[in-house]
Amino acid sequence: MFKINENYLKLPGSYLFSTVGRKAREYKAAHPDKNVISLGIGDVTQPLAPAVIQAMHAAVDEMGQAATFRGYAPDLGYEFLRSEIANKDYKARGVEIALDEIFISDGAKSDCGNIGDIFSEDNRIAVCDPVYPVYVDTNAMSGRCGDYIKESERWSNVTYMPCVAENNFVPALPEEAADVIYLCYPNNPTGAAATKEQLQKWVDYALAHQSIIVFDAAYEAYIHEDNIPHSIYECEGAKKCAIEIRSFSKNAGFTGTRLGFTVIPKELTAGGVSLNSLWARRCGTKFNGAPYIIQRAGEAVYSEAGRAQTRAQIEYYMNNAKVIRESLTSAGYEVFGGVNAPYIWLRTPKGMTSWDFFDYLLANAQVVGTPGSGFGPSGEGYFRLTAFGSYENTVEALDRIKKMG
Ligand SMILES: Cc1ncc(COP(=O)(O)O)c(C=O)c1O
Repeated sequence: MFKINENYLKLPGSYLFSTVGRKAREYKAAHPDKNVISLGIGDVTQPLAPAVIQAMHAAVDEMGQAATFRGYAPDLGYEFLRSEIANKDYKARGVEIALDEIFISDGAKSDCGNIGDIFSEDNRIAVCDPVYPVYVDTNAMSGRCGDYIKESERWSNVTYMPCVAENNFVPALPEEAADVIYLCYPNNPTGAAATKEQLQKWVDYALAHQSIIVFDAAYEAYIHEDNIPHSIYECEGAKKCAIEIRSFSKNAGFTGTRLGFTVIPKELTAGGVSLNSLWARRCGTKFNGAPYIIQRAGEAVYSEAGRAQTRAQIEYYMNNAKVIRESLTSAGYEVFGGVNAPYIWLRTPKGMTSWDFFDYLLANAQVVGTPGSGFGPSGEGYFRLTAFGSYENTVEALDRIKKMG
């Protein structure tokens, strides 16, 4: 008789976005005259840039001609894309990354989830709290998290690192040894960014403890301040202890198009074994590459026109972030994030819980956001708004919040 992977049965239900959706639907049904605005979405809304569309059309035409048709992509991804990444994401910032240290994928979620394949089951993982849930859930699926404890909303074998206003949403180094440390900066959900000094401490910790950092830089393109590193490899020694994962979803609107990459430097070894070669083996065995058409689209993001057009999209979202930040601040809210990230994280007023504030905002301003407690216990008392809506809706939503008092 076959047996299922029982680790899946330990996973708690993922109620956050389904509950948000249900409550919004119920409210709309009860108040059909009200226009509900969602600032809860973590998905982009701007269409793909013209340079990207043009490249996709050209690639589609190539696929229709015998002379230019492409089948399976090379294991690591096409060199035309990897060399743009190496030059423009890394070399331009003083970081040397070789082409065979870059692995093109179908997005950061897959890579964040799959990277655990190359780690032993008995590693202890450490995550920020609140957190993008994929890191924990995928480790739980492979039996690395122990048991889920309902009362504390935590897994027995996971080290949680609270990220709260008091530490500027950058966690303290863990007291108990952690083997695999997940860091995401700029951060979802808190919108916080980590300075080079702060990240260097983590790199030093990882080197000293022989830990590895999985650095999720999905929101790198939103960095606006000069003292914020765009890559963990800007820190000394990081090539010996960090994997970096990036995405084309938020910098170029590829959430539905799917493209990302993972960097594993060859210097990164464990007991003499190269993690780069383990990941190459894993990808060669379990993945047949991102589509040629999409990799050409990704290449176009780095063209002069593509850069200008995608930059304009980011500035559009960041202008929304500014509207949210400034309006909330003038209305007396304590506001975080939104400077180097498309997320604004606010403290719920008058000691309300995150869900109380969700209900209050929906009832009084007809605005939907995301309760902070849904991202982890330390998110209680906070609330996330995103900058991915339209400018008009963002302004209207904030006007209503200001009037709500
Ligand atoms: C922190 C973080 N990492 C990764 C992802 C997923 O990116 P992708 O669309 O490339 O799978 C998201 C998406 O919201 C995210 O917030």
